[in-house]
Amino acid sequence: MKLLDIYSSFKQDIAFIERALEQTVQSDHPFLTETSIHLLKAGGKRIRPVFVLLSGQFGEYDLERLSKVAVALELIHMATLVHDDVIDDADTRRGELTVKSKWDNRIAMYTGDYIFAKALTVISQLGEAEIHRSLSKAIVEMCIGEIEQIRYFFRTDQTVRDYLLRIRRKTALLIAISCKLGAMAAGASESVVNGLYSYGYNVGMAFQIRDDILDLTGNERQLGKPPGSDVKQGNITLPVILAIRESGLKQNILREIERIRQSEGQADAGALLEMVRQSGGIRQSDQLAAKYIRKAVGAIAGLSDGKAKKSLVEIAHFVGSRSY
Ligand code: IPE
Ligand code: IPE
Ligand code: MG
Ligand code: MG
Repeated sequence: MKLLDIYSSFKQDIAFIERALEQTVQSDHPFLTETSIHLLKAGGKRIRPVFVLLSGQFGEYDLERLSKVAVALELIHMATLVHDDVIDDADTRRGELTVKSKWDNRIAMYTGDYIFAKALTVISQLGEAEIHRSLSKAIVEMCIGEIEQIRYFFRTDQTVRDYLLRIRRKTALLIAISCKLGAMAAGASESVVNGLYSYGYNVGMAFQIRDDILDLTGNERQLGKPPGSDVKQGNITLPVILAIRESGLKQNILREIERIRQSEGQADAGALLEMVRQSGGIRQSDQLAAKYIRKAVGAIAGLSDGKAKKSLVEIAHFVGSRSY
């Protein structure tokens, strides 16, 4: 199932969020508006706002209130992307030039900071300390996750556990709190909030595992950026960690990674991609993603049946096999 088909039943609410996002990044300074709108207009799946809206349906659904949570989460996500592209030295994102590439790293740092600050402005309008606290905690964890990613660049001795801890911080927790805060803002009960948090966490883990698989198996049109970017930047992801465990491939893979490291990411990664694609690493990673998806669906099994739950289950299955 396509994401658009799943979204179609609440198209109008997403359009409302879209307008709110645009209004929020308008600033007194036209240049900051331009750099922020550049990324906003490049598209993106808006999956975090969708999780907020769907989770909000398990309580008192109030679009005005929920939109503040949804806008804040998408903006935090966008701010981290702008910064992530500096760290990863990425030229394209969502099929367009990255802010750091269209302008430069300094502009990207401030654009990211600006978008972050706007997210905080919006969330503070809710005046709920607990929501603010959860959000701040998730942002701290994301920073740790991204810093850890740098620390582990080109480390071929890392474990699956190192990887999982990292993606939990950099990706899964933000998706988990998208669900949690959506439900909280709608005044849902604690058990509902907890179920949705667990759903979001598990979907988030699968989301990043699929992202890392796609970087190895996808093409530029699907990804909006060239494949193989992760390994060129030194980011050793799950399929690669697993492929290194195969005795027949280990030495060749380590040699290719070392070659890429020495070339500072300039060397062609084709041979490495080919080896990883042929290894069991892709299949095993897919299986792990599928396991997280099963857990996610299980976490909301006890919630009331209806359109929202059905959509959440559909999105979980989309994430588990997503190709964009
Ligand atoms: C990209 O997130 C970064 C990851 C956490 C993998 P998305 O895949 O949600 O990016 P957009 O918003 O759709 O561009
Ligand atoms: C996700 O990691 C980035 C953040 C969670 C900030 P990636 O580095 O895999 O994201 P892409 O692939 O650049 O979108
Ligand atoms: Mg990146
Ligand atoms: Mg990626």
